[in-house]
Amino acid sequence: MKLRNYLLLTLTASIGLPMMAKTSSPIIVSTDDTEIVMTVAENGNLVYNYYGKKFNNVNPYLTKQYREQPDNGAGFAPQAYPAYGGFVTITPALKLVHADGSHTTHLKYDSHKVTKTGDGVTRTDICLKDPLYNIALTLFYTSYDKENVITESAMLTNNEGGLLTIENLASTYLPLHADSYYLTHFHGVWATEMQLVEEQLHPGIKSVESKRGVQATQTANPAFLLSLNGPAREDSGDVYGGALAWSGNYKLTFEQDECGRMNVVGGVNDFASTYHLNTGESLTTPEMVWTFSNEGRGKVSRNLHDWIRNHALAHADMERPVVLNSWEGAYMNFDEKTITDMIDDAAKIGVEMFVLDDGWFGNGEYARNSDHAGLGDWQVNTQKLPRGIDYLAKHAVKKGLKFGIWIEPEMVNPKSQLAESHPEWIVKSGDRDKLQIRQQWILDLTNPAVQDFVVKTFDDVLALSPDISYVKWDANRFVTDFGSEYLPADRQSHFWIDYTKGLYDVYDRIRAAHPEVMIQLCSSGGARLDMGALKYHDEFWTSDNTNSLDRIRIQNSTNLFYPAIATASHVSTSPNHQTGMMAPLKYRFDVAMSGRLGLELQPKHLNEEEWGFAKEAIATYKKIRPIVQFGDLYRLKNPEDGTGWASHQYVAKDGKEAVFFAYSLKYHGRTTFFQTRLKGLDPNKQYRITELNKKDWPSFYGDGKVFPGDYLMNEGISLGIGNNFDSTVLHIQEI
Ligand code: GLA
Repeated sequence: MKLRNYLLLTLTASIGLPMMAKTSSPIIVSTDDTEIVMTVAENGNLVYNYYGKKFNNVNPYLTKQYREQPDNGAGFAPQAYPAYGGFVTITPALKLVHADGSHTTHLKYDSHKVTKTGDGVTRTDICLKDPLYNIALTLFYTSYDKENVITESAMLTNNEGGLLTIENLASTYLPLHADSYYLTHFHGVWATEMQLVEEQLHPGIKSVESKRGVQATQTANPAFLLSLNGPAREDSGDVYGGALAWSGNYKLTFEQDECGRMNVVGGVNDFASTYHLNTGESLTTPEMVWTFSNEGRGKVSRNLHDWIRNHALAHADMERPVVLNSWEGAYMNFDEKTITDMIDDAAKIGVEMFVLDDGWFGNGEYARNSDHAGLGDWQVNTQKLPRGIDYLAKHAVKKGLKFGIWIEPEMVNPKSQLAESHPEWIVKSGDRDKLQIRQQWILDLTNPAVQDFVVKTFDDVLALSPDISYVKWDANRFVTDFGSEYLPADRQSHFWIDYTKGLYDVYDRIRAAHPEVMIQLCSSGGARLDMGALKYHDEFWTSDNTNSLDRIRIQNSTNLFYPAIATASHVSTSPNHQTGMMAPLKYRFDVAMSGRLGLELQPKHLNEEEWGFAKEAIATYKKIRPIVQFGDLYRLKNPEDGTGWASHQYVAKDGKEAVFFAYSLKYHGRTTFFQTRLKGLDPNKQYRITELNKKDWPSFYGDGKVFPGDYLMNEGISLGIGNNFDSTVLHIQEI
């Protein structure tokens, strides 16, 4: 019997049963194409042998070698979850101070069990213990077969009989060995989120992290690619994709040690986050979401998109509506007629959901007419909207649209009734003055009374009309001078973790009470975009920068990890309000149509020709929407590659249709043509190609013609899009 079959039998036999004996077989966490192999060494250490492409057979020598060699230094036998103690001198996954003051922990294998938790989903729990201290560290690996995703988290339980101090409790550790390592990560600021950097890692430590608590992903995202032996390529090479599912402070550490090994540790940021457990208490980490591809980063993206759509996104099987959001079209300067006019126009142009953004609440001196007042007072502004929200929502429904509304329930303006009545609910550091950002403070979500308030706010806002079917949840500042009046003095460092746990409790309660409502995740744009928040939301706002040229880059980076179905992408006016840049309406639509299409403008400002184009483009989007929202993404030309073009394709799961997008990012000269090969088609099939959103003449010479799949994928196509703001959208259909 092949070793693999034997192992499968062993695992099957053990499903649901704890395996208490010291195991000599490898512990394998596998998906259709990948696997993690761990073994228990003679000294009881749980050794991390391998994560990568699935073997035909797990090589018995690999596991034997580690099992029998002594644990004698950092360069040897990496542990699956290194705790500080013994020979561990790298950044550890776990760092504890025990009740007796000892700083060292030795984790030894105790037991494991394998449970099938769903169709193609298996959970492997591995329990580690310290022979000297009564603690238990359980690792949870959940493997998703067809998506080739493995998530990892850890739970620490204190049974020491005294106070256990956690200085670091990571979600994951991954040791890798290669000649060179290339990290793709992101930096940014408001309106410039997700700027991609790829760099070679060298000996030493590189960390990507946030200490902002709220808006944790504005300056960097907890998602990365790690490519072995060269920069990440699209369709070849070993690439790991990782993303932490946590909407608070995080830290990803990449440490190339003296032996050339890359040690990746990821989890909640340990910065100012010492956490205490009384005896009998446990702390569970967020999940790290991993995928591996030996076919480049394209497959990493497709794996993660499938996983998100199948397991981590609200209403993921539902087509997303075309939205008109009121923000850039009206800001806070509106009355009832402004909004009903917008709804009327939205209906005429083919929009399916109208969203009323900021500015509808607060009264009297605290009316929300600018960002100086009103946050916290979630009552309808009776001057602007005398007949309330229900009147507007009913108007939308009458016109065939759905209705949505904006809230920012974690925040409070000093100028609000809430700030006056509950000063104790506001995040602050002792007696220090509270700093304002955008004239607002943050409510302390570690406090259950504040959690109740936020849940009630959501309930009350929805109660304004039975016809509210969408909420845009915003959070427009980050944490400064952290501190909580609710937490005791010796537990202030619990703030960061408890805030995010409080937020998740709130989301859980809201989702339980309002399962049908669509919720958009927004935080001054993409400042809170991570795998943890995603499961409560239907979509996210990637950036307040709606300038199409910038959006190409922002969406390209975002879609490395997060799928188009959730990427709200709105056509705004020209010149663009953030950048002042002018771009043709076609270009703006061609960019927005590669995500979840919406509008972010005053429809009245479109002239007759633009109106006609927009109406047709929206109708066209509805036809290709299933391919964009549920299809497989193939990147063809990378906006970062310096060629001045960007291009990608979505291919329907059944392979019969595809949509192709190409954008010129600069002027290329008269005689330079865009050229690319298509991907994901069947070489043996014939495809008719139709150009969409055509303006004056087609940019594709073969518009309406039929081409063999192997021609399209080997010779490819060329397009006349050499000018600034030229773009092409093609519909590719099997005949
Ligand atoms: C943030 C959001 C915008 C808009 C404004 C309203 O900046 O990202 O889309 O909702 O707040 O104040």
